[in-house]
Amino acid sequence: MGVFANEDQESSGHEQVVFCHDKPTGLKAIIGIYSTALGPALGGTRFYPYATEDDALRDVLDLSRGMAYKNALAGLDHGGGKAVIWGDPEQGKSEALLRAYGRFVQSLNGRYYTACDVGTYVADMDVVARETRFVTGRSVEHGGAGDSSILTAWGVFQGMRAAAEHMWGTPTLAGRRVGVAGLGKVGKVLTRHLLEDGAAVVATDVSEKALAWARETYPQVDLVADADALITSDIDVYAPCALGGALNDDSVAALRAKVVAGGANNQLAHPGIEKVLADRGILYAPDYVVNAGGVIQVADEIEGFNFERAKLRANRIYDTTRDILRLADAEGVPPAVAADRLAERRMAEVGRLRTIHLA
Ligand SMILES: NC(=O)c1ccc[n+]([C@@H]2O[C@H](COP(=O)([O-])OP(=O)(O)OC[C@H]3O[C@@H](n4cnc5c(N)ncnc54)[C@H](O)[C@@H]3O)[C@@H](O)[C@H]2O)c1
Repeated sequence: MGVFANEDQESSGHEQVVFCHDKPTGLKAIIGIYSTALGPALGGTRFYPYATEDDALRDVLDLSRGMAYKNALAGLDHGGGKAVIWGDPEQGKSEALLRAYGRFVQSLNGRYYTACDVGTYVADMDVVARETRFVTGRSVEHGGAGDSSILTAWGVFQGMRAAAEHMWGTPTLAGRRVGVAGLGKVGKVLTRHLLEDGAAVVATDVSEKALAWARETYPQVDLVADADALITSDIDVYAPCALGGALNDDSVAALRAKVVAGGANNQLAHPGIEKVLADRGILYAPDYVVNAGGVIQVADEIEGFNFERAKLRANRIYDTTRDILRLADAEGVPPAVAADRLAERRMAEVGRLRTIHLA
């Protein structure tokens, strides 16, 4: 298979990459641990029908690296990790497969904690938990924190408030027009926070069910045909809340909003696009900073979930976003670069403490 000849992996700087194979259940998983400098790696399991093994490997390497940065800036005592299960979650998921996966997670003996991601749900984590104690994001019935999108949306709202303050001088969206692309778990809750704050919301989704929900629940929300129509409409803030890659050369050139802050992961389609945004005078609140509420929620569960404690930590996304935007101005770099620098600084400074020998 030649995995160690893979050039992505050789240059990725990951601590550990584990290939897990259980033929009878069809499990093919890769667990990526980018860093444990700040503590056990934490990040969800993506169940996805990748076209090739290389695609799966590339994704887990990118995602686990991203989690190291996200966890560092969320102030968590967790390093970055992520896992992918290569397969179709609709067809391939079974109790035995999830439990086989759980045994591989257990075999890492706490170097990696898993949770939900695209294609996996709290009920799946309850099954995984029958084989490993290194799992979080479980159902409320099993002592878990439940749906992590609640604090994800709350954190995005806090980050957006900080960006609004940086751009317009007041930490509120009142009187602004916010475009929400994707009315899924995060987009729906974010819409509620925005309306309660006095913003006008324009939204879009590819799902008729999501649109019907919006018509029924919030008739005051303007619905537009697609993301292209959203970004060219008269909005002050763009909140990508669907899939990754929302900010590409075309969308950034067409965007009318002055601020971007949304829940989607990996919003920047390619390196360099953060500079295009900055050159156009668009303030980008880095995705992994503002969408950290979900990982804050599941990290809290490891201690025994307390919603108020987790929410207090998610409130700090406001301060972190504000600090990053100020640092970006001070250092003359785009906010995405400032965020990376701050995360790397915390990983180095706090990670170094482990060199102090404890008898
Ligand atoms: N749920 C969390 O706790 C969490 C945490 C961090 C990051 N995120 C990220 O936030 C984003 C949304 O997550 P979610 O949990 O709400 O997912 P979700 O699947 O519940 O919602 C996504 C929504 O986007 C819609 N959509 C898909 N393609 C679209 C398109 N081209 N245009 C418009 N709408 C489109 C879907 O129909 C769906 O309603 C994802 O990128 C996810 O990785 C989620």
